[in-house]
Amino acid sequence: MNITMRQFQIFEAVAQHLSYTRAADLLYLSQPAVSMQIKQLESEVGMPLFERLGKKLFLTDAGQELLIYARNISQQLLELDDVLDEIRGGERGRLTIAVATTANYFALKLLGEFYKRFSGTVINFDVTNRESLLNHLNDNTADMVIMGRPPEGMDVEATPFLDNPLVVIAPKEHRLAREKNIPLSVLQQETFIMREHGSGTRIAMERFFEQSGYSISSVMEMSSNEAINQAVEAGLGLGIVSRHTLELELALGRLAVLDVELFPIMRNWYLVHRKGKRLTALMESFKDLVIDETSTILKS
Ligand code: PGA
Repeated sequence: MNITMRQFQIFEAVAQHLSYTRAADLLYLSQPAVSMQIKQLESEVGMPLFERLGKKLFLTDAGQELLIYARNISQQLLELDDVLDEIRGGERGRLTIAVATTANYFALKLLGEFYKRFSGTVINFDVTNRESLLNHLNDNTADMVIMGRPPEGMDVEATPFLDNPLVVIAPKEHRLAREKNIPLSVLQQETFIMREHGSGTRIAMERFFEQSGYSISSVMEMSSNEAINQAVEAGLGLGIVSRHTLELELALGRLAVLDVELFPIMRNWYLVHRKGKRLTALMESFKDLVIDETSTILKS
């Protein structure tokens, strides 16, 4: 196959915005120039990459596959750029970090500290759930990921650096708020507000109940910890969240952490990157800061 970098770049822009016009604008090209490059790329690939249904443009299966590779190659080129910069002794560097929604409560503090030390860094930061973090690792679209459990079946280096206890929360005045060692069977009679499927918190919680032989029912699903905390406070049900999400609520006395048997569910936060990934000095510095200094930074 004879594909040029320029074609990849144009393809990525069209695929991202699903619009020839928008891609042309972004790349300062004419719309016919963009169409021509995509046509050439399609003839190289031997299959259409886009299909138009009504007014909308969609990626075909081949297009979706090509997009994964195109992004990977772009990421690799950016890495090459950084490596070359380093060799030139340049100060500039780039860091792409993706963190679990729940880790965002402390990750920004770590990034803030890092930025103080390496202010020339351009940081790309994505906050998302576990499922998307796995995609980031798989597609090499993040240098490093902070997540609640390293992926199985993927060649990664994962270092635990902070604990992540999951606790049961209730409104301050809930009748269970003053009970001690509440049996799991009592929780079965309550309704819960849960995180969405794909969330690490949700998976850990489901595993816990599966192993303990109990099950709990949900009244609602939410993809934000803040929303769960607020819904619990409003009396819509109980919740199971990471203690990291509760700093403010507990300080303001808005919620109670229930004393439930076998709780908290003890988990860890891991810094994860693909094995064999070429880490620039900047990435190494970030890794060192997270692994060695998180506890100190979070206390400060
Ligand atoms: P999440 O957190 O629930 O925000 O996806 C990740 C995890 O705890 O594994």
